[in-house]
Amino acid sequence: MIYNFDKIVERHGTDSLKFDDLLSRYGRTDLTPLWVADMDFEVCQEITAALKQRLDHRIYGYSCADEGYWQSIIDWERNMHGFEIDRSELTYIPGVVKGIGFAINHFTRQGDKVVIQEPVYHPFRIVPEGNGRQVISNDLILKDGRHDMDLEGLEAIFKDEKPRMMILCNPHNPMGVTWAPETLRQVARLAKQYGVIVVSDEIHGDLALFGHKHHPFATVSDEAAEVSITLGAPSKTFNIPGIVSSWCVVKNPALRQSFYGWLEANEFNDTNFLSTVATEAAYKCGSEWLDQAKAYIERNIIAVEEFCAAELPQIKPMRPEASFLVWLDCSELNLDHAGLIDLFVNKAGLALNDGEMFGMNGACHMRLNVATPRKVLMGAMHKLKAAIL
Ligand SMILES: Cc1ncc(COP(=O)(O)O)c(C=O)c1O
Repeated sequence: MIYNFDKIVERHGTDSLKFDDLLSRYGRTDLTPLWVADMDFEVCQEITAALKQRLDHRIYGYSCADEGYWQSIIDWERNMHGFEIDRSELTYIPGVVKGIGFAINHFTRQGDKVVIQEPVYHPFRIVPEGNGRQVISNDLILKDGRHDMDLEGLEAIFKDEKPRMMILCNPHNPMGVTWAPETLRQVARLAKQYGVIVVSDEIHGDLALFGHKHHPFATVSDEAAEVSITLGAPSKTFNIPGIVSSWCVVKNPALRQSFYGWLEANEFNDTNFLSTVATEAAYKCGSEWLDQAKAYIERNIIAVEEFCAAELPQIKPMRPEASFLVWLDCSELNLDHAGLIDLFVNKAGLALNDGEMFGMNGACHMRLNVATPRKVLMGAMHKLKAAIL
């Protein structure tokens, strides 16, 4: 089956965050939305068929997750990433960001320190700070054109600041870095040594590109398995984030019993009837769609790179190793924050995420979502060029 990712689907008027919430976020509605991380591609038919079949049974009572649902997650993670998960280690969570919030609330106290690595997906700062925790960033460093972790900096923070938790973005949004197993092993070694729990957000893990590989944190060493809480989802992979279906794996029995007991007591891990149906269909039937979607995304990234090299040399796209978000270095435009926003929003008519959203060290950058039909993407690049010239 050949999927048509060139198809332009009208999304306005569908209560789409990306399309229908532009006014409150960007002050206008006439923008090409290339911001929040969902795709403008239709999902594979098996997901829609499974949902329709369930909806046709017109009683929407309380539901429970059957073994097929759990097994679909276990099989997917084993086949895709070699991540062996026992059923007892797995639970449902209603969203990865909520999972981060649950872990923070359960394992840390007001005033406790939480480490993140900016520039990073902005809820990594917002969620702990909103819960009264103190956030410390071990900023990423740029080495030979590639972002890397500052492991010495991390050790110094662990030693001096005594944080209780680290939130790891694996792969790392917004730059799409897939972390090397050795880097992850070092993080695990330090976390174990200094008593830090690592929450590993692996929501972009299925979207490794250009031959790169995602390594689930819990698989890299015994120490990593011991200190980690892994959060994953089919949502980015199969473009179903509106379904709200995510999962959590905790290998360490002591952490697990305490965390899962608390989730259970509050019913935070109760599935809903559509999330289990969509998840199982996606994991069982979606791999061909995913392969084609990733190939289309890779071609979109290359198209952006070629366009910038030929037509917009002031903008330098950084090739992501995973996911559909391209980090654009706009520093050669010599614009301040307000000037950059004005250029993209008011002059070019584009809604992207601005780099400062991900930490002040993201200044002079923009994050471009390329999971859209090529015609839309290249139309946006031409609008940007016209606005700059
Ligand atoms: C790294 C990362 N984590 C979590 C999320 C959101 O996950 P959820 O919708 O399951 O809360 C996103 C969405 O862009 C993300 O990039």
